[in-house]
Amino acid sequence: MLVLGIETTCDETAAAVVERHDDGSGHIVSNIVSSQLDVHAAFGGVVPEIAARAHVETLDHVVAQAMHAAGRRYDELDAVAAAAGPGLIGGVIVGLTTAKAIALVHGKPLIAVNHLEAHALTARLTDRTLFPYCLFLASGGHTQILAVRGVGNYVRLGTTHDDAIGEAFDKTAKLLGLGYPGGPQVEQQAARGDARRFPLPRPMQHRRDADFSLSGLKTALRLEAEAIAPLSDQDIADLCASFQQAVVDVIDDRLRAGLRMFRARFGAPSALVAAGGVAANRAVRATLTQVALDCGTVLIAPPQELCTDNGAMIAWAGCERLALGLTDPLDVAPRARWPLDEIAAAEGARLRTAAYK
Ligand code: KG4
Ligand code: ZN
Repeated sequence: MLVLGIETTCDETAAAVVERHDDGSGHIVSNIVSSQLDVHAAFGGVVPEIAARAHVETLDHVVAQAMHAAGRRYDELDAVAAAAGPGLIGGVIVGLTTAKAIALVHGKPLIAVNHLEAHALTARLTDRTLFPYCLFLASGGHTQILAVRGVGNYVRLGTTHDDAIGEAFDKTAKLLGLGYPGGPQVEQQAARGDARRFPLPRPMQHRRDADFSLSGLKTALRLEAEAIAPLSDQDIADLCASFQQAVVDVIDDRLRAGLRMFRARFGAPSALVAAGGVAANRAVRATLTQVALDCGTVLIAPPQELCTDNGAMIAWAGCERLALGLTDPLDVAPRARWPLDEIAAAEGARLRTAAYK
């Protein structure tokens, strides 16, 4: 089974060809990612309209590159998959419309993939992770703890009430005059800072639910910074270290709560799976490893290029859906918002049993 996948929900224009074998294993035949980082860096964040235009300009080329690198013809494909949301709607429209055109011209089925579902299923491509597992997704746009029970069967255990974790890193970097994207910069500064210097809050700690809230932490950091301005290099490093430690403590506490909820409802997870750019952070990763260990499971973190946005994860989610006979009509609509739990609600119990393998 050979599927072309297209990803344009944020600031990466990406396309990939992925093959799924009958035994359920998969392999990436080609994987092309064109990042718009340079285009948005000057603005300190992703500008939706600029992102949409950049997708229009690059996507055809990226798709052609992915097909060329795969050494396959369009008529060899079994389906065309695209992320149909959630994300910045301009970009989503570009990717989904392109996929529809390719599907129509070559007479192939279309698969409208939920971007979060694609993140959730990546561990099955890289590590053949068995259902059910617990997913911790932390990127610039999303912060979620999910029970992944089967293809199309997701239960959200925790989410953020305001900022995503990556967004909090980015805003912290911006406040301190560091570059974009902020996560790697904050991590670098934190390495030479004193994490105990600023007593920042740990929002939501000790609550029974597994939700996050990052905006209070961000405000507390701003107040500390304003109180001691102008900032020396050491001040910046100490602020970054204190911020990162607070985030790590929050992740530790919230994930333990999420895993407790998981166990109570679904039994033992086969793994704790990490996805999203924030998982690149060494302090975060160390915490995830420890939490998994303490909770009697293992951490699976796909390689960084598959944790961040890419076309292979969309193509793979397309493979998993196609294997279950799930395709979409050509008039399927792009969606800016598309909570994962809705997929399960819409598709009902049929999948719930079909996906347990
Ligand atoms: O998954 P991703 O590449 O893109 C999406 O947002 O979909 O995640 C990017 C986010 C950014 O907010 C970035 O600051 C954060 O992940 N990030 C990090 C690190 N590397 C990337 N956050 C903390 N530490 C890092 N080393
Ligand atoms: Zn993503």
